[in-house]
Amino acid sequence: MSENVTLPQQQGAKQQQGEPLLKVEGLQKHFPIYGGFPFKRQVGAVKAVDGVDLTMYPGESLGLVGESGCGKSTTGRLITRLLEPTGGTIEYAGQDITHAKRKQLAPIRSEIQMIFQDPYSSLNPRQTVGTIIKSPMEVNGINPPGGRENRVRELLETVGLNPEHYNRFPHEFSGGQRQRIGVARALALQPKLIVADEPVSALDVSIQAQVVNLLQKVQEEMGIAFLFIAHDLAVVRHFSQRVAVMYLGKVMEVADRDSLYNRPRHPYTHALLSAVPEATVDGSQRERIRLAGDVPSPINPPTGCRFRTRCWKAQEKCATDEPPLVQLSGSTEGHLTACHFPEEPTIKGGKEVVLDPALASLESDSK
Ligand SMILES: Nc1ncnc2c1ncn2[C@@H]1O[C@H](COP(=O)(O)OP(=O)(O)OP(=O)(O)O)[C@@H](O)[C@H]1O
Ligand SMILES: [Mg+2]
Repeated sequence: MSENVTLPQQQGAKQQQGEPLLKVEGLQKHFPIYGGFPFKRQVGAVKAVDGVDLTMYPGESLGLVGESGCGKSTTGRLITRLLEPTGGTIEYAGQDITHAKRKQLAPIRSEIQMIFQDPYSSLNPRQTVGTIIKSPMEVNGINPPGGRENRVRELLETVGLNPEHYNRFPHEFSGGQRQRIGVARALALQPKLIVADEPVSALDVSIQAQVVNLLQKVQEEMGIAFLFIAHDLAVVRHFSQRVAVMYLGKVMEVADRDSLYNRPRHPYTHALLSAVPEATVDGSQRERIRLAGDVPSPINPPTGCRFRTRCWKAQEKCATDEPPLVQLSGSTEGHLTACHFPEEPTIKGGKEVVLDPALASLESDSK
């Protein structure tokens, strides 16, 4: 394979025309902290999600990355409305569902599905695979032509499992196969949006590529929009047409994949990328940036820009003014950054970045 691997054309740009499927503005989730004696009262809050802005278009895949604890899972659970937001708005297909109650949510619940990180605990061990995949159809009263059982067998085939295994139990499958069962269950209701929360991070590296390829196939062939949550930038690069970078409860940068990986404008994105192993055209190594200090507490995030306490470019203004998430001059359309002192919009290191050879082979396998 040639060393200079280019990624498939961005399909995101084409699909981003028209109405968004999901629009999230200023989304917040503050978990209260209680203390005091003898009467318990709220003494603070964990600001897990603290003003997230995201837009997703039908059929596109958006990667959501960031360090552990930055609020990715909470954002996913807010979007699927497994959690009640503290503030902000969530619009799905033009409908405000921020505080929608059970009745209004019922039809939407089938359109938005979730795939969880742990394929061991997310499947009921006492139910057969057939029952697990069939139950969302039963709960929602869906009777596909040919019957539910037939549909389950089709779904098992779609995700690369043997339809003959309909009556087997989860413990009879490997981790990768269990995650495939989770994918089949998510597909049972023909959703429009799937929130996949670290769907491969509990799997063996060798199995990860297979499951990522399956998700990519499903996303492309069925035109399902995917919010793909991961802390691994390499996996997200393989899967996502656009990528959003979160830090301490906020989105710091969002762009189409190539702009984000080749011309990151936010110092935080720059630092995250510098930790990803990669091959460059001339074989040189990318400059590595080591972030100083720990991630601050989400109970009391820094004033102004919340990344400033670890940023080597921070100045006085960063402590007082919170930078808005906007398109900076020199950035491509739709490339938004929240930074007062962004990186230059040049291609990193003066050359186009190419994939890590291991991922490049993964890329070609999926074609
Ligand atoms: N139910 C809860 N009650 C209190 N705090 C919570 C709750 N759920 C999450 N948090 C806190 O909110 C913050 C964000 O958590 P979240 O699970 O969304 O992060 P994450 O980005 O998904 O991390 P990881 O990469 O480790 O999965 C963390 O500080 C976490 O401790
Ligand atoms: Mg998480």
